[in-house]
Amino acid sequence: MAKYGIVIPAAGQGKRMGAGYNKQFLALMGEPILVHTVRIFQESNVVSEIVIVGSNDDISVIDDLVHHHKFDKVSAICKGGVQRQDSVRAGVQALSPTIQRVVVHDGARPLLTLEEFHRFLGAAEKFPSAIMAIPVKDTIKQVLATGEVSLTLPREYLRAVQTPQVFDRGILEEAHYRAVSEGYYGTDDASLLEWIGYPVQVIEGSQENIKVTTPEDLWLAERILAQRLARL
Ligand code: CTP
Ligand code: MG
Repeated sequence: MAKYGIVIPAAGQGKRMGAGYNKQFLALMGEPILVHTVRIFQESNVVSEIVIVGSNDDISVIDDLVHHHKFDKVSAICKGGVQRQDSVRAGVQALSPTIQRVVVHDGARPLLTLEEFHRFLGAAEKFPSAIMAIPVKDTIKQVLATGEVSLTLPREYLRAVQTPQVFDRGILEEAHYRAVSEGYYGTDDASLLEWIGYPVQVIEGSQENIKVTTPEDLWLAERILAQRLARL
């Protein structure tokens, strides 16, 4: 039963990648990163609709990619905002009114597999909101502006947060609405729910679901994809 609406924020500038243009158009095994990402959801039988959020300059290129690859679940390509949060808010607004369950997934996470996505949705089903995250490998310390350590956080309770993140539409909209009206910014969507006191469930993700952020990530992503192809 197709019931999920997907919002893909892809309106960043990719500054840490340093390519000089949106990193989501960089090739991964010969195809733009964003094409890999959209394909995951195009191929999922529980997804009915996909909204891609792009920056003004990129919208026509995204439109060309969508048509070229016949991604017919893409119902809108809308204009993003200054912060990721502004882009997601615009994307959620563009979903059809019939969509009641929303998945947000970074355009820059092309390595999520369909199996992992469906496993995540199954585990998340009984929660109003759930996020994919993995245990951290490093010891994490909080530091002062001077560089002096102020606190070492207990690693067993720490998680590195990824996307997908899934939400009942009503609470996601409420969280975004309240955040924009009070000028609150969080680095992911779940943090907006936490800020207004809603529970967020963590579901274990995959080490391979990396966000392509710096040039080393692109290299790693190529390696992971090459390995997967070799196993086929
Ligand atoms: N994003 C967005 N709108 C913004 C900023 C980010 O839609 N105003 C998207 C990015 O395109 C990316 C995802 O949010 O798919 C995660 O952001 P990030 O990895 O930080 O990408 P960029 O912001 O593009 O990279 P950087 O922070 O290095 O500039
Ligand atoms: Mg960013």
